[in-house]
Amino acid sequence: MSLSNNTPDMNFASDNVMGASAPVLDALLAANGGGMPAYGADPITREVEAAFCEIFERDTAVFLVTTGTAANALAVAAMTTPWGLCACHAEAHIIDDECGAPEFFSHGAKLLGIPGTGGKLTPAGLEAALAALPNHEKQMPAQGLSISQATEAGTIYTGDEIAALSQVARARKLALHMDGARFANALVALDVSPAEMTWRRGVDILSFGGTKNGCLAAEAILVFDPALADSLRYRRKRSGHTVSKGRLLSAQFRGYLAGDHWLANARHANRMADTLSAGLAAIAGVRLAWPTQVNEVFPVLPAHVDAALKASGVAYYPWSSGSLPEGLTIGRDESLVRMVTSFATTPEAVEAVLSTAREASLAIAPRSVAA
Ligand SMILES: Cc1ncc(COP(=O)(O)O)c(C=O)c1O
Repeated sequence: MSLSNNTPDMNFASDNVMGASAPVLDALLAANGGGMPAYGADPITREVEAAFCEIFERDTAVFLVTTGTAANALAVAAMTTPWGLCACHAEAHIIDDECGAPEFFSHGAKLLGIPGTGGKLTPAGLEAALAALPNHEKQMPAQGLSISQATEAGTIYTGDEIAALSQVARARKLALHMDGARFANALVALDVSPAEMTWRRGVDILSFGGTKNGCLAAEAILVFDPALADSLRYRRKRSGHTVSKGRLLSAQFRGYLAGDHWLANARHANRMADTLSAGLAAIAGVRLAWPTQVNEVFPVLPAHVDAALKASGVAYYPWSSGSLPEGLTIGRDESLVRMVTSFATTPEAVEAVLSTAREASLAIAPRSVAA
């Protein structure tokens, strides 16, 4: 919400800082009246399941949950035994930001973090890490691979890159999960079909995000490998994620998917990020840690620009420099931060950030020259 009618909202901390979009709220209200079967046995849930099958051009098992953590953790649990490993990027959300939920829901599986520049795994890096695991009963065997699309560095895997990782995984009988908390943002950036970004490239199970891009609290586990779907309805219930008023969960997706609202939201968020990114990169002393490919911008800010933005009420997070490109270092008077745009970010808010950053940069420039 804006601070006042004239003040653009300056919260770039994440895309979940915004509320839900109007079509999602309308769909919720429309689904609210009257009685319907509970626990997902309602006609709206059936309709949304059919919509996912159409969007992904195949039979797809659909399990709706309320958080991305639940979607990821249940997906990892479906792919791994309690004594199995699931490989992922060393800074993946599942390993860094889910309080051990994947290990908890899988009753003991472990995550194997593998480094890679820009939040991305490479086939060679993955193969080397898997080949280095001792083949012995003392060693947990690798059973799954999870990749994030978009990644935690705001980068995206191309279809060919996903296929190459899938090949390494398949050769070792690992199932492939995609954390698509920002699936829509990656999809419109790549300009491919949902099938092309997933199962046609070897993805077996997908966490399809809705919350960050307009839903209230709705994520879908989409399962393309029928063998992985069997356990999920029990796992979801057992984890407390089978929502009793299930139609209000599926209604969010009804509003989200209808008329390609989800794609329009993602395009808007990505466009706002492009403008923000280009504007910041043009300011003296500001660099980008990684290219802006979706709705996340990672500028390296000089201290005076950082201070001015914070003083003017712009919200954003400091970010990890764990997967910076070789040769890029963060100076002592700089900080690497993440700014995220969303379906609700306005051009005015982006411009306000840019003009504050420009002014701060210009204010310091004459003094540096004089010195
Ligand atoms: C890459 C990624 N995966 C998953 C999630 C989902 O997390 P949550 O449980 O907060 O919905 C997030 C949210 O920050 C994320 O950035």
